[in-house]
Amino acid sequence: MAGVHSQEAIDWDRLRARAREACSRAYAPYSRYGVGAAALVDDGRVVSGCNVENAGYGVTLCAECGLVSELVLGGGGRLLAFTCCNHTGEVIMPCGRCRQLLWEHGGAELLVETPEGIVPMDHVLPQAFGPQHLDRPATA
Ligand code: THU
Repeated sequence: MAGVHSQEAIDWDRLRARAREACSRAYAPYSRYGVGAAALVDDGRVVSGCNVENAGYGVTLCAECGLVSELVLGGGGRLLAFTCCNHTGEVIMPCGRCRQLLWEHGGAELLVETPEGIVPMDHVLPQAFGPQHLDRPATA
């Protein structure tokens, strides 16, 4: 897939539409704050997720959890571009925990849409802790 790594090749409108679609499925009866997330994978797939809340509030799954689960279940791959939105369609920042989740599967170069524009992941998670910090390499 030539050029998929360059920002011009990324169809951000398509990703935003997928995030909004995912958001429409959010299960957020407690916060009433639906979130949808979508990302482009390096093989051209688009993966997405919505938040799934729980009566045990702390058990809530962020939209990014579902997205990463779909990524791995669908054969893995690296995330190239990511966006997420709330129930009004506004672009929002992934929470701190989810930045760590995204780092694992996209690394420093993953492009993240923010309310201030599109930036690489290492701008929103500087000096990240990652696989390279562990004293043994990751195995599949
Ligand atoms: N939420 C996400 O799904 N992703 C984020 O990155 C930020 C927060 C959800 C969790 C909870 O269901 C709701 O937004 C309000 O915090």
